[in-house]
Amino acid sequence: KKTHLIAFMPSGKRGRFPNGTPVLEAARLLGVDIDSVCGGRGICGRCQVDMTVGKFSKHGVTSHKSSLSAFNEVEQKYKERRNLKDGRRLSCQALLLGDAVIDVPATSQVHKQVVVKQADDRKIEMDPAIRLHFVQVLEPDMHNPTGDFERLCAALKQQWDLENLECDIRTLQKLQKVLRDGHWSVTVAVHRGTRITKIWPGFNNQAYGIAVDVGSTTIAMHLCDLSTGAVIASSGMMNPQIRYGEDLMSRVSYVMMNPGGELLLTEAVRSGINGLIAEVTTEAKVDPDDILNAVFVGNPIMHHLLLGIDPTELGGAPFALATNSAMTIWASEVGMTSNPDCRAYFLPCIAGHVGADTAAVILSEAPYLQEQMTLIIDVGTNAEIVLGNNERLLAASSPTGPAFEGAQISCGQRAAAGAIERVRIDPETLEPRFKVIGSDLWSDEDGFEEETRKIGVTGICGSGIIEVIAEMYLAGILSSDGVIDGAMAAKSPRIVADGRTFSYVIRDGESEIKIYQTDVRAIQLAKAALYAGAKLLMDKLDLEKVDRIQLTGAFGSHIDTKYAMVLGMIPDCNLKEVQAVGNAAGVGARIALLNNSARDEIEELVKTVEKIETAVEPNFQQYFVEAMAIPHKTAPYPELSK
Ligand code: FES
Repeated sequence: KKTHLIAFMPSGKRGRFPNGTPVLEAARLLGVDIDSVCGGRGICGRCQVDMTVGKFSKHGVTSHKSSLSAFNEVEQKYKERRNLKDGRRLSCQALLLGDAVIDVPATSQVHKQVVVKQADDRKIEMDPAIRLHFVQVLEPDMHNPTGDFERLCAALKQQWDLENLECDIRTLQKLQKVLRDGHWSVTVAVHRGTRITKIWPGFNNQAYGIAVDVGSTTIAMHLCDLSTGAVIASSGMMNPQIRYGEDLMSRVSYVMMNPGGELLLTEAVRSGINGLIAEVTTEAKVDPDDILNAVFVGNPIMHHLLLGIDPTELGGAPFALATNSAMTIWASEVGMTSNPDCRAYFLPCIAGHVGADTAAVILSEAPYLQEQMTLIIDVGTNAEIVLGNNERLLAASSPTGPAFEGAQISCGQRAAAGAIERVRIDPETLEPRFKVIGSDLWSDEDGFEEETRKIGVTGICGSGIIEVIAEMYLAGILSSDGVIDGAMAAKSPRIVADGRTFSYVIRDGESEIKIYQTDVRAIQLAKAALYAGAKLLMDKLDLEKVDRIQLTGAFGSHIDTKYAMVLGMIPDCNLKEVQAVGNAAGVGARIALLNNSARDEIEELVKTVEKIETAVEPNFQQYFVEAMAIPHKTAPYPELSK
């Protein structure tokens, strides 16, 4: 029989096939990555390819439109229904009639690259846990008395080469009706090639997943299309557990003091997640029942509470986790009401203080793929610190306390509308200018008062505190020991006495906002803990200086990196290499949602992460005391003077 040469771009894979071979089949045989849900029936449209016309002497192929068969009825019908771009063909319908060069557009590849992080255009390959398979099942027959499920499995084996599939009782309960409603044609969602998690009558082309970052302060959720990888809706909310305690430890104390209190905390976080699912699905007009995969990340206490595990053991040494392994369970087991058959994946925890959120940060920033020594700091009530490169990776957490989040600061507040987030102080006059969240204007610009009248100037948030204290230091108001200099009171009415110490007035009048000596102390303690933790990790690697620093977390992504260095929160580093990288834990959760192998990768990797327990390190106290000074008692900051 006559054969033809076919080459697929961009992979360049080529081979000879008999006249009349479907292009999709040739692709399969050559290992070319082309998507399909309908299994070559001309329904899903995922197998589209471009016929390239022209001479490709380099590849030894001359292709013409006539190298492929004309549109058949199925393709014609698809085109009428869904529209097919000019030059596009369904590769399952087009037959090879001559030598051909075929372009596989990115949208038709299963393993296409998708951008997960805008900032550095980080791309990952699509390889989601859930795949959809349209299948035609044999009808039951008196002479062949096998069960519906067994016939479904036989069809999946024959049409999709899927074997040994399991399903749970809920799927079985619906199976017979679905098969009959679909007239023996159904679409099956298979989780990681082993487990049926949903069956639709007839053809279904859509499956969705959610990536959830359960923070102690906020919960953030992304709804993703599992075929394109796109985020189609996002939402966030305050963690409803806040009513049981502002920070992590107060929530653990709540549980310790109120037997059964963990149930309330679990219920609170689960209801928050269900509320967010309702929001994102409404916004994207998606049936919540089509959410088939969920990925959760969170610190160890959030992780345990969401799973319904009492976090008491995490409240004190030796901070034992119930489990540090990754887990895949039914979403119904964590109270997800929308689709109980959704599979939920929890990233592994690293240690009692360093959780699945840090594992997600590592996945997102991938220091393990780089030679550069990267220091990653997730700033929150605890700072999680990761240091390393492609050879070694260390992790620790440092008890910074909630000062960076605005707690323990007299006029402090969370980052919300009305909070001062940027501050500049004129070194001559000592007059401040500031900006609040919710307005683009600086306080000395026309229209500022008018614009902020509604939202008010209500307090100062973490990034604002960092800036004002760093600016006070740069303006000479604050000594290197962190003392507000009373002598400056003669120079400016902004510096006022408060008993035996002094304070700095950012805004006077009715809604007065002041930085007290105690506020400076609180920040000094927090930043010293952060620095000391980072220094301990650097010691372990015999490192004088790191190549780059990445700040993440709600606060870490908001902070002006220069001021973080002026204060000595972070070690000296080329400022160009210090970046605020946004919510890296959320990005990591998305990566795990869209890419199976990333899950395997992080599970293996966390086993090799060296955990440093800052509390038992003999040098911690000394490093902490030295780091109280601004920027530091002894460590030089040459990069700052550049
Ligand atoms: Fe579904 Fe071709 S494989 S349309």
